Amino acid sequence: MRTVYMDHSATTPVRPEVVEAMLPYFTEQFGNASSVHHLGQRARAAVDEARDIVAAHLNARPEEIVFTSGGTESDNHAIRGVAAAGRGRHVITSAVEHHAVLNTCKALEKEGFEVTVLPVDENGLVDPQELRGALRPGTVLVSIMMANNEVGTIQPIRELAEVTAESGAVFHTDAVQAAGKMPVDVEELGVDLLSLSAHKFYGPKGVGVLYIRAGTRIRPMQVGGHHEHGRRAGTENVPGIVGMARALELACAEMDEEAQRLKRLREHLQKGLTGRLEDVQLNGHPEQRLPHLLNLTFAYVEGESMLLSLDAVGVCVSTGSACTSGTLEPSHVLTAMGVRPELAHGSLRFSLGRMNTEDDVEYVLEKFPPIVRRLREMSPTTREASA
Ligand SMILES: Cc1ncc(COP(=O)(O)O)c(C=O)c1O
Repeated sequence: MRTVYMDHSATTPVRPEVVEAMLPYFTEQFGNASSVHHLGQRARAAVDEARDIVAAHLNARPEEIVFTSGGTESDNHAIRGVAAAGRGRHVITSAVEHHAVLNTCKALEKEGFEVTVLPVDENGLVDPQELRGALRPGTVLVSIMMANNEVGTIQPIRELAEVTAESGAVFHTDAVQAAGKMPVDVEELGVDLLSLSAHKFYGPKGVGVLYIRAGTRIRPMQVGGHHEHGRRAGTENVPGIVGMARALELACAEMDEEAQRLKRLREHLQKGLTGRLEDVQLNGHPEQRLPHLLNLTFAYVEGESMLLSLDAVGVCVSTGSACTSGTLEPSHVLTAMGVRPELAHGSLRFSLGRMNTEDDVEYVLEKFPPIVRRLREMSPTTREASA
């Protein structure tokens, strides 16, 4: 059966060029980057080179890059690390964050911190004035994502970071979905902390970055040896780090052209589905949105049923973030945007990527509308609506 993968916001395949860059560090160049002998030194040189590459692509300094095990660890480190080092007990985040941020904030709440969760508008945007109103003398950290993983809405990070800086609090952004899709320049954004995850941009799973602006008050969260200049203990994942740097380099080099191509494919898909089916609604900002992402609500149908029917014809999509699929709760992102729970249940996320072609879009346009029509015919909510 043909496979059409349209779930690139969940994860991406590792590019062959990236695998090639990683391979020697599994076998002949297997040294521990902390070892003094020549094999260790080669591993150290590879990690240093990767750090330089990642720093250059974020417009950061190499010493501001800390390698982690991925987006979840970077988010935890940023939030818990600042909370542990800060002079206050108040943290601000938004209602549409990934659970790596939301649940870390919830854990802090249990430990006695106060957490303000900012609302979003119907397009998923946080209002900088709302943030200004929430900041207070005890606020140590503001964590707001750069681009949303379910609907793709891009936040006004520069403005939000500026408002935060006036108060003296630390600003963190989760750029896990943004990296490789749009420019991520820490100076232009004015952020203090920024999270990345390699597997979202055709790098390996289990490796990521926490950018820490020099001078930021933050404690290490994982203690042990003196790795990463004492900021994150543990033997470095040399192949992963090398692969991530190569993946970021490639993604940034191809970004403009690829973003245009994905946008064209996405528009074709969006127009094709809204033209063929009634009662379809776009979720997320109509323009200020990641180029590859399309989140649609199909009224009177269950997201899970659509997902499984699509899977049966080889099409892989998602009903929201991968981490919440399988739960019966409607998406917290969609409900925060004011989508009614019964409609939120009928939402699908198509996230396009490098291998997708016009032909893939045509395949979905051929297979999917009959699925929705069939499910609607069976749905009690359709019958209620037409009764
Ligand atoms: C916005 C966002 N933050 C964090 C994560 C977690 O990253 P990782 O899978 O590397 O732990 C994800 C992954 O889905 C994400 O989309």
